[in-house]
Amino acid sequence: MPIRLLSPEVASQIAAGEVIERPASVVKELLENSLDAGARSVTIAVEEAGKKLIEVADDGSGIPSDELELAVARHATSKLIRSDELFSISTLGFRGEALASIGSVSRMTVTSRVQNEKEGARLLVEGGNMAGKLTKVGATVGTTMRVEDLFYNVPARLKFLKSDVTERRAIDALVTRYALAYPEKRFKLSEGKSVVLQTSGDGDRRSILAALYGVDVAKQMLEIQSEEEGFRLTGFISPTSLTRSNRRELTFFINGRWVHDVSLNTALLQAYHTLLMVGRYPLTALFLEIPSEEVDVNVHPAKAEVRFRTPDKIFSFVQRSARRALLAYSPVPNVAPSLWGTRSQETSRTGLDWTIAHDEGLLVSSDAQHAFGSQSSVISNQSSVSSNQSEIANRQSEIASIPLLRLIGQIGASYLVAEGPDGLYLIDQHAAHERVLFEKLMTQHAMQN
Ligand SMILES: Nc1ncnc2c1ncn2[C@@H]1O[C@H](COP(=O)(O)OP(=O)(O)OP(=O)(O)O)[C@@H](O)[C@H]1O
Ligand SMILES: [Mg+2]
Repeated sequence: MPIRLLSPEVASQIAAGEVIERPASVVKELLENSLDAGARSVTIAVEEAGKKLIEVADDGSGIPSDELELAVARHATSKLIRSDELFSISTLGFRGEALASIGSVSRMTVTSRVQNEKEGARLLVEGGNMAGKLTKVGATVGTTMRVEDLFYNVPARLKFLKSDVTERRAIDALVTRYALAYPEKRFKLSEGKSVVLQTSGDGDRRSILAALYGVDVAKQMLEIQSEEEGFRLTGFISPTSLTRSNRRELTFFINGRWVHDVSLNTALLQAYHTLLMVGRYPLTALFLEIPSEEVDVNVHPAKAEVRFRTPDKIFSFVQRSARRALLAYSPVPNVAPSLWGTRSQETSRTGLDWTIAHDEGLLVSSDAQHAFGSQSSVISNQSSVSSNQSEIANRQSEIASIPLLRLIGQIGASYLVAEGPDGLYLIDQHAAHERVLFEKLMTQHAMQN
């Protein structure tokens, strides 16, 4: 077959294939455009898992009417001028390709208005071609993108889509993660008649986390705030007691962009090293901010992957930050056995003086808290007396030998299973309860006398 130049339509569809793979890719590109335009509120409506309709409306800066035709052309962007700017990109978009790609595989209507124009303008693109002329319309400031009949002219692509449920889930996951990354913006996602997600834009990430994972999980997630040499890591990681059987819940944003980076995932998993069972993975929503010249975002057509200038530095920063947060919330100190036998009369207590830190899964004797300064306290049963009773004094060494234990679980509502520095502990719950009551009585008795 002789060599021929591809027709613009075919070339355009090939290029679109790299960027627009499924309905969620359209949502991502439109969302990112809205965020780049400084929108404070983004409303997304989806029908038939995005195959029939995806509409993204924002209150951003808008597109001037005389630039509307250019906006949907390939390689047309307002975000990049010189090639050297590619290495210090501060916007989510820069390739000038998204709208052209979406327009070539759908029926796309752009309606937009800027502040200093009285009217808005509308343009319809069908399968990569302008359908009719630009028309003036009444519109509020901002942009509304309507994408109908996605892949209507690429039936092969339609066949590769997963079930509607899976495609819808991909959209939900995407929008929820962007809402998490931009908690100060208002997001609304509706599918058909039902509203799937609505955020208030009040900056509270934990409430958005609850929309993603449920209130229980959101409450347990550990917050990270770490800063070092111009790098900043914020967000949440799950405690060791909260895991999944796959890595799908490892979310990383770098400079406001959702990326999939194997090395960052590895850094994170190393932070959990020895703390998780084999085959279990944490949940994370982490937001890394680094100077834009530290990261090359122009290595993947959908910008889902990046390259770092100093990968090792970033890797160890992430690993250190996550490990620090994990240990801060679940302290498992190195216990010197001698510590447990050297308590003064002033600090001595009677009875099994437990504090059960449910959130951290720790079973901590209050003595241990003294020794290590643990802040955890959910349920406490503390009482102290001056021990002038010889019987009580005799028990001090016995009590003193109970180390810091990490509560692992419960067996048959009868035994508490805990992990200590020298192995596994099985605590007979019934006996422990009797002992607590006994200690209380002894204390009362000592006080009365
Ligand atoms: N929601 C919007 N609000 C304001 N301007 C927009 C919006 N969407 C697109 N634009 C304008 O249209 C241009 C083209 O958008 P498009 O998404 O195709 O390219 P890009 O965002 O510059 O780069 P990329 O292809 O990497 O996304 C943008 O540079 C921007 O000027
Ligand atoms: Mg864009």
